[in-house]
Amino acid sequence: LTAAVATAFTAGCTSEHVPGSAASGPGTKGAALRIPRLARSSTDADGYKVFRLTLQADGRSRFLPGLTTATWGINGAYLGPTVRATRGDRVRMVITNRTPDPSTLHWHGMLLPAAMDGGPHQMIEPGATWSPQWTLDQPASSLWFHPHPHEATAVQVYRGLAGMFLVDEPGGPKLPDTYGVDDIPLIIQDKRFHEDGSLDEDDVDTGPYGFLGDVILINGTYRPVFKVQAQSVRFRLLNASSARVYQVGFSDGRTFHVVGTDSGLTEHPIAVKRLTLSPGERAEIVVRFTAGEETVMNSRGDDSSDIQEGDFDLLRLEAAPTLAASPPLPAALAQPAARPPAGATVRTFELSGTHNIDGTKMDMNRIDTVVPAGAREIWEVRNNGKAHNFHVHGADFRILDRAGQPPQRYETGPKDTVFVPPNSNVRLAVNFTRYTDPTGPYMYHCHILRHEDKGMMGQFVVVKPGTEQQTSRTLTGMD
Ligand code: C2O
Ligand code: CU
Ligand code: CU
Repeated sequence: LTAAVATAFTAGCTSEHVPGSAASGPGTKGAALRIPRLARSSTDADGYKVFRLTLQADGRSRFLPGLTTATWGINGAYLGPTVRATRGDRVRMVITNRTPDPSTLHWHGMLLPAAMDGGPHQMIEPGATWSPQWTLDQPASSLWFHPHPHEATAVQVYRGLAGMFLVDEPGGPKLPDTYGVDDIPLIIQDKRFHEDGSLDEDDVDTGPYGFLGDVILINGTYRPVFKVQAQSVRFRLLNASSARVYQVGFSDGRTFHVVGTDSGLTEHPIAVKRLTLSPGERAEIVVRFTAGEETVMNSRGDDSSDIQEGDFDLLRLEAAPTLAASPPLPAALAQPAARPPAGATVRTFELSGTHNIDGTKMDMNRIDTVVPAGAREIWEVRNNGKAHNFHVHGADFRILDRAGQPPQRYETGPKDTVFVPPNSNVRLAVNFTRYTDPTGPYMYHCHILRHEDKGMMGQFVVVKPGTEQQTSRTLTGMD
């Protein structure tokens, strides 16, 4: 890219995610896409990269023209900065809760000890600070962070507590990686606004799926426009919505390439015209542009379930009259997935209509599953009811099949969250961490936040192989 482009970009994005800074009037072509700034870090005496993230409840954001919206944010009014670090880095996160409510900060997709995971057992009381630390040891990927307090996640994420965590890996394939220029995070969320601009929270805690909004914000931008400056742009899509499922493509039906899924790069670039993203899922895509053209990234619904309905424009793209040259996509991006070992443990999980897994609700003191460290298991998730999805902490997985059929090619990469449509089964080959802690549980759950809050979640511990039988199934006394 030319220096001019990079400079112009830097000038526009050094400030902390200032809401409203680029808003234009209603019915016009929209507002410049906001790009969360990169989080600053310092290096401490022990060599840890230290990031400071403060959960705030006093945001005043300008989403809609002429209106102000009370929001929550991390180091700012709404959403958080993008954390970016490299495999091998030792990171320490200093999380301070300046909201009035107890919260946590969970590293969705991170492979780390359970005590650092930021799940419902690592509560941060108002005014308190929590400082987990770990070594980044996983492939390049687009992860994210969000609160995970038991029974209260949906409202906190909806108000704006979420951000992306990008893991880089030295020596990886050459993909567009100039943040904010040709490497763009897109945090997709649906909202509903009252006439005075305040967030409508009515359905966050009700209804079969909880909240479904009619306005889509991308990185907290209403009707966003992105000025394309390079021939190839990598978008890191994150569905950070409470329940809504997006089917992402373009108004002109163009083909684009999936290069990454939740937890890492795909084996090869995969050509698609549309892809499905349920809450919590990510996809990295590379889109090719010609100078001067315009297109709209959109979502096309279907009526398979309430959360799959509706057509939405996501992002208008306007290519500059001249574009910086981009190299072609590498043919190979990552190693193929290993097959699950013969005789791998098979576990089944039954999602049932009233927010249960295997007939029970989340119990903070109950261990549902004990897994030996480093295990590779087959988890079969069965859904005989409405739409759900399934997310596993402290692990990554591959989709083996859906109802016995191979998955879509674009979902064959490494994953941590999978859509489980109404009345369907999915089989996952799951790789667990090597971090053992018989007292510290990881979660698995539906990532439709209303379902998660209603208890559609279970807990597992990772233990030294051979000690599964001795492991206690209760955590009484831990909290
Ligand atoms: Cu993104 Cu258990 O969560
Ligand atoms: Cu998670
Ligand atoms: Cu669900």
